[in-house]
Amino acid sequence: MKRIGVLVSGRGSNLQALIDAARRGELGGEIAVVVSNVETAAGLERARRAGIPTAFRDHRGKKREAFDAEIVEILHAHRVDLVCLAGFMRLLSPVFVRAFPQRVVNIHPALLPAFPGKDAQRQAWEHGAKVSGPTVHIVDEGLDSGPIVAQEAVSVRSSDTPESLAERILEAEHRLYPRAVRTLLAGRWRIEGRRFLVEDE
Ligand code: GAR
Repeated sequence: MKRIGVLVSGRGSNLQALIDAARRGELGGEIAVVVSNVETAAGLERARRAGIPTAFRDHRGKKREAFDAEIVEILHAHRVDLVCLAGFMRLLSPVFVRAFPQRVVNIHPALLPAFPGKDAQRQAWEHGAKVSGPTVHIVDEGLDSGPIVAQEAVSVRSSDTPESLAERILEAEHRLYPRAVRTLLAGRWRIEGRRFLVEDE
């Protein structure tokens, strides 16, 4: 069984989608540990309720590399094969990315490369985009810049507020992330340039 480490900073609804998919046997792996930089993150409580080991490490007052090294140590101790960022609101340093080459993925609430960074749903809404939606991508050393694993289109309605749009994108995230993780764990893929290619697809 492949082992997944999930990093969260907040609500953890994507973590919950991964937990639920794993329970249904649809993830192709098990969640070995959930780590957070926020002690009160609801995601940690979700993990505890599911009987998954958790860890908290405070990033405050630490150099980015030192904090990342602490997280990497936890993930190694739990023999993690794949790291899933699920609303983890910290930029990862090269120390982290190089410890898990092509083995860190993130979910972002916009169709990358449009609207990277914070508050992506609001960025898309303010820009007047007619289509947005989540992206699952491999994490590289840039900001939301790694190869795209999967995306789902969500129409933007005239009646949408940034909040209502974010809500529909979140529903799509919960469908997309478990599917993308399953593909990644199945291992029948390669990266050519920026392109993530799945065998027999
Ligand atoms: C999700 O919408 C996720 O796409 C976003 O944070 C939210 C976390 O929700 N991530 C980013 O913006 C990363 N740049 P959750 O804690 O309920 O999964």
